[in-house]
Amino acid sequence: MRMISASILACDLSRLAEEIRRVQPYVDMIHLDVMDGVFVPNITFGFPLLEAVKSCTNLPIDVHLMIIDADKYVESFARSGASWIGVHYEACAHLHRTVQKIKENGAKAYAVLNPHTPVEVLTDILVELDGVLVMTVNPGFSGQKFIEWTVEKIKRLRRMIDERSLDVKIMVDGGVNEETMEKVVCAGAEILVMGYGIFRNPDPASVRKMMEGVECSC
Ligand code: DX5
Ligand code: ZN
Repeated sequence: MRMISASILACDLSRLAEEIRRVQPYVDMIHLDVMDGVFVPNITFGFPLLEAVKSCTNLPIDVHLMIIDADKYVESFARSGASWIGVHYEACAHLHRTVQKIKENGAKAYAVLNPHTPVEVLTDILVELDGVLVMTVNPGFSGQKFIEWTVEKIKRLRRMIDERSLDVKIMVDGGVNEETMEKVVCAGAEILVMGYGIFRNPDPASVRKMMEGVECSC
């Protein structure tokens, strides 16, 4: 099933509740980008914003951690109500331990890969993951241009998952919009994280319709 996770980094935060209400009929999750200013060159949200989002919607919340030492915080994010928690392969020295901690605390765990990191680094741990998020821009900001060559990574990951009949969702994040969604969906992505693509589109219903209507000839 194809899904949209709406990244609030791209919404008008002065009207958070209204923005979430506007897109929520057309999306499946709310995506919260947590940045520490060390792993990525930007600083964003923490627990108070997670609470604020929770008070605005019943949609599941997907927390994308772009921080070093994620291990220290995954338990608190899970206990604060995150349904999905993603940690960067590049920022976790003991990815398996961190993934276990996320799952032990009742959330779904996904590993995130920067554009330059090959999907094959997850070959062995794949069986333990609920999802893999392929970054299609360099993490840090909304509204960046989609990096075309990441599509090949999504295709390779699709093959890795299908060959072993694993139940691992492929997620994509960065520059996904009405123009780029077809290529990521046809490459095998199922959960599309969208910032500008959904919040800056005056007609979010059409974005949903377009995503559901993508037909892939393969
Ligand atoms: C970037 C974030 C994304 C960002 C996506 O580091 O992880 O979730 O908000 O925004 P768009 O869809 O506008 O590229
Ligand atoms: Zn994100």
